[in-house]
Amino acid sequence: MASPWSTKDIPSQENKIALITGANSGIGFEAAKALAEKGALVVLACRNEEKAKAAIAAIKSEIPSAKLEFLSLDLASQASVKIAAKEFLTNHNTLDLLINNAGVMWLPKSETMDGHDMQFGTNHLGHFTLTGLLLDTVVNTPNSRIVTVSSMAHYSGRIHFDDIKMDGRYGKHKAYAQAKLANLMFAYELDRKLSAAGIDTRSIAVHPGMSSTNLGKPGFEKGASLITLAAKLFFPIATQSARNGALPTLYGATANAAAGGDYIGPSWIFEIAGPPKKVGSSRYSKRQDIATQLWQLSEKLTGTQVAHNFCG
Ligand SMILES: NC(=O)c1ccc[n+]([C@@H]2O[C@H](COP(=O)([O-])OP(=O)(O)OC[C@H]3O[C@@H](n4cnc5c(N)ncnc54)[C@H](OP(=O)(O)O)[C@@H]3O)[C@@H](O)[C@H]2O)c1
Repeated sequence: MASPWSTKDIPSQENKIALITGANSGIGFEAAKALAEKGALVVLACRNEEKAKAAIAAIKSEIPSAKLEFLSLDLASQASVKIAAKEFLTNHNTLDLLINNAGVMWLPKSETMDGHDMQFGTNHLGHFTLTGLLLDTVVNTPNSRIVTVSSMAHYSGRIHFDDIKMDGRYGKHKAYAQAKLANLMFAYELDRKLSAAGIDTRSIAVHPGMSSTNLGKPGFEKGASLITLAAKLFFPIATQSARNGALPTLYGATANAAAGGDYIGPSWIFEIAGPPKKVGSSRYSKRQDIATQLWQLSEKLTGTQVAHNFCG
């Protein structure tokens, strides 16, 4: 029997450039380390320079040959996303791997700099604009991929078009589910658009199961709801390491078998942990009418037109 896919199976990434959002912590950090170890130049796109520099030092201490750059990026500010994209494009002509990884979870009601819901604005709208601004460069890079990190939380998600900020009835779990569903539907829709235009860039969605990272810690500390209490109890015993949680991302980013439009997650029971494989997603996540509506809404909210150059 073939051994399960692991970082040993990542092919050489020499001469490739990878940009990973939120690469100073958790899954993004582990993905950055693994890709740097295989020779990629990894751009750590992070909101906190001090944390990013500490992450770079930590990777360098293990892999002295690692090629790493810091890019300042706050996904909760559309202005910051635009500056970051411009800076990246000033320094680089190609982008092999765009990894839309950063995220926040279960925050109390709060807003981004642009007045969007913090979870939807950071997790989805920030990445929507970043991808849009880098897309020409990505599609002009042979064999490029865009990997977007979603979550099993998408199963309970709906896109609340009538109240996207949930001003009427905010729920931090509901808002996270909406944001991660948006990540997944964006990845699927982008793949449909790329395929229809005959472009070989792959848009792949992934999820890390349940991984021990810093995600949700502020919410855990403050929350007293049943879901939060269950998570507090369950997370320490049920989660896999951040290193293993990064495997679906790395598989989506590098494995030949990962195709555009795939959704990759852990393979063991309930997709909580284990080596990566292609997984399913909710029926709602595959609805093209909702995906089109979400795309149009995202363009309207961000003022960024994505994929119009080649998809009309
Ligand atoms: N861990 C899990 O079990 C799990 C399950 C399902 C999905 N996910 C998804 O996996 C992804 C990675 O999360 P993780 O588990 O590795 O959590 P993590 O350790 O908390 O890492 C999240 C990263 O996102 C960054 N970030 C947050 N807000 C940002 C912003 N406004 N601008 C730029 N960067 C920002 C964080 O930066 P700071 O360090 O500055 O806060 C951090 O680097 C997320 O998309 C999450 O939704 C995780």
